[in-house]
Amino acid sequence: MKISIKAVKPASLRSDCLVICVATKNKLSAEAKELDVASNKRLSKLLDNGDFDGKLGSTMLLQGIEGINAKRVLLVGSGDKPKLNAKELKKLLGAAASNLIKSNATDAHFEIASLSLQGLNYESLAERLALELEDASYSYQTTKSSKAKKPSLKSVSLSAPKGSSRARLNKALAKGTATGRGVNIAKELGNLPGNICTPSYLSQQAINLAKGKRNLSVKILSEKQMQRLGMGSLLSVAAGSSQEAQLIVMEYKGAKASKTKAAPHCLVGKGITFDTGGISLKPGAMMDEMKFDMCGAASVIGTMAAVVEMALPIDVVAIIAAAENMPSGKATKPGDVVTSMSGQTIEILNTDAEGRLVLCDALTYAERFKPASVIDIATLTGAAVATFGSHVSAMLSNNDKLAAELLDCGDASIDPIWQLPLHDEYQSLLDSNFADIANIGGPRAGTITAACFLSRFTKKYKWAHLDIAGSAWNTGANKGATGRPVSLLVEYLRRQAA
Ligand code: BES
Ligand code: MN
Ligand code: ZN
Repeated sequence: MKISIKAVKPASLRSDCLVICVATKNKLSAEAKELDVASNKRLSKLLDNGDFDGKLGSTMLLQGIEGINAKRVLLVGSGDKPKLNAKELKKLLGAAASNLIKSNATDAHFEIASLSLQGLNYESLAERLALELEDASYSYQTTKSSKAKKPSLKSVSLSAPKGSSRARLNKALAKGTATGRGVNIAKELGNLPGNICTPSYLSQQAINLAKGKRNLSVKILSEKQMQRLGMGSLLSVAAGSSQEAQLIVMEYKGAKASKTKAAPHCLVGKGITFDTGGISLKPGAMMDEMKFDMCGAASVIGTMAAVVEMALPIDVVAIIAAAENMPSGKATKPGDVVTSMSGQTIEILNTDAEGRLVLCDALTYAERFKPASVIDIATLTGAAVATFGSHVSAMLSNNDKLAAELLDCGDASIDPIWQLPLHDEYQSLLDSNFADIANIGGPRAGTITAACFLSRFTKKYKWAHLDIAGSAWNTGANKGATGRPVSLLVEYLRRQAA
């Protein structure tokens, strides 16, 4: 989809669809008033019917209004507040985008420059619009034999307020599109079934992403290579599967050569391409959803794609621990003790707590990059779903400044997180009689004890853990990956680059 900034005369614009805002009580925006005049009050007469109320995010598609050259006019409700904050703006633009995508229009123009924003500039509006259009264009088709019709929408333009910089607005559009594409990459990888999206499939995606890009390199570590590094914990998860585990390492070098080389930021993704629970087998109901257990990895790949497209001037290392958790005669058993790359021994009391087992070796591997920060992203605990539902992702960190920054990024990107305490008092729940540490902490405070486990492997750097078990996918009729937290991660990395 092409998206650009354009100054137009709305009433005479030949377009498939003109998008304008109407506030509650059908209060016309400045642009809507102009069209109303041009259409000899047709617009306000239509609104007098009372079918539209201007509620924030409500929409109505009008066809063939006399005096207006555009084939359609999409009314979007801007609500009853004089100024819109980021969340409200997302609601408005998201509704407009999904309605446009569903329509048959091939082009559209947004005439919305009179919107009043609170703590946001018009560049953020442009960026948000591009992101929402990208997001709305995605639908899962890959494994359906009858494909749905592709969206008709090919080009979109946006008017700009007087005095704004077109160059900056175009940049904002490009950034929004890049983030949206990253989100869609994460959605697609998450949605693919476990028999297609295997650990080696994830490796291939990383390799494909790096093709033809001189500033992005990929290295795949095989099980043999991981064995040599002593990654006994990660390998124990893959022991029952016929799919080889993979450690995928992507290095993006965007920092300007002239600057003294800054340390890279590191993203670590949980890539369990299917989680049966292993010998501690999960119950059958909804087990299909454990194909989404690689959504952390998917978000890392999506974020890297966005970072590359934006050409951010920083260095980023992505590490994905990919494996399939299966029961078999070769599978790891409860009570088995394994040795992690860090040298710490782990008593595996429950083979279903496998995410932390693959992550701990990936986190130890991250040490070699002397990272400025490490963020791991994982669908780690059912407890995070019980605590937060799908709205916020859980965040735990060993560094208050990093935690505060991530919280702020979550708000700004509308990909919210909430912090849980990583207090030392919880650590003793992981005591084991037979190893340095147990892989589960009992039935209480499950998200915190999982993070406590990881914290034993992250002492050498600033680290935050995102448990996205509730936010990474929707269940029920809308079952499907959300692409979270790509927006949050992109926001974080952009700030590090600024
Ligand atoms: N992938 C699951 C976590 C999960 C469960 C995410 C349900 C989303 C929905 C993880 O590997 C797991 O099984 N965790 C266990 C840990 C427990 C055995 C300590 C859990 O949360 O039940
Ligand atoms: Mn599990
Ligand atoms: Zn899992």
